[in-house]
Amino acid sequence: MNKAVLTAMNEQVNHEMFSAYLYLSMSAWFEARNLRGMAKWMRSQAGEEMEHAMKFYDFIFERGDKVDLKAIEQPKSDFESAQAIFEEALAHEKKVTALINRIYDIAVAEKDYPAQVLLQWFIKEQVEEEDNVGQAVEMLKMTDGKSYQLLMLDGKFGARAD
Ligand SMILES: [Fe+2]
Ligand SMILES: [Fe+2]
Repeated sequence: MNKAVLTAMNEQVNHEMFSAYLYLSMSAWFEARNLRGMAKWMRSQAGEEMEHAMKFYDFIFERGDKVDLKAIEQPKSDFESAQAIFEEALAHEKKVTALINRIYDIAVAEKDYPAQVLLQWFIKEQVEEEDNVGQAVEMLKMTDGKSYQLLMLDGKFGARAD
């Protein structure tokens, strides 16, 4: 594979792993506060991010190249509120979208067509990710920070299919 594309993909393996770690940390925050539905939601999200990392990982090997695993940054563990967590998750997804778009730009510049096909899946996935997390933020805003509404919403989040 082209060197610039390979470097960017190896970096993205790390970004996706970090996303998994960040969402697991958010899940742990909910777990510690007995908001088990939201904990489950974030845990499922973390699992999806691991799958994203592995999609890049497998693709690198399929193309006959070598995966270069780097240290995963420690995620924050202190959060202000449930709403703040989902707002941070949305901001994080937007960052990831920009990263994916950047790799796509490189793949186009380097005329790497198979990489473009893989990245198109991720481009579509990011639209879904931002939509899902954005929806969660909007629902949390409706609770006005009230415990009863938050508990109702927690049940709804817990119903998320893995
Ligand atoms: Fe991802
Ligand atoms: Fe994501």
